[in-house]
Amino acid sequence: MAIREIKKYPEKILRTKTEPVNEFNSELQKLVDDMIETMYAAPGVGLAANQVGILKQVAVIDVGSSEGKSSLIVLINPEIINEEGENNSEEGCLSIPDYTTIVKRAERVKVKGLDRDGKPIEIDADGLLAKALQHELDHLNGLLLIDRIGRIKKEFFKKRYAREHAASKE
Ligand code: NI
Repeated sequence: MAIREIKKYPEKILRTKTEPVNEFNSELQKLVDDMIETMYAAPGVGLAANQVGILKQVAVIDVGSSEGKSSLIVLINPEIINEEGENNSEEGCLSIPDYTTIVKRAERVKVKGLDRDGKPIEIDADGLLAKALQHELDHLNGLLLIDRIGRIKKEFFKKRYAREHAASKE
């Protein structure tokens, strides 16, 4: 296993839609293992393959890791098949360091996909897991949390980023 470099905003691959996985080969298993290690090392509660530069529909999530109890989920080719309610809560992203903001999400989601061996799985989630699932599925579709916060907040984010980026070059 190896820790891979996490791509950061504004790298274009974060805005690129990932492709479905068709082969559950050793290359995929290595990617999954590396993503798990990279997520835990960050540390984070989720990671999508394009965040490590791979355009495949692969995500890893462990919302228990922040509390010391593992609940690892590996999701291949996931899609949301049902969503209910509304939840507004604070979110951050490993690809946008030092930034958190309130994001509007569904309160409950049902997601279907495949596990790392290609077996179908279905997940019914609320709370933090529902939020993480929506966040990682957004990544796989080329969306970041700043695409979910409205135009004005997004402009604020961009201005702040430009200012901090300029400052770090001085
Ligand atoms: Ni993220």
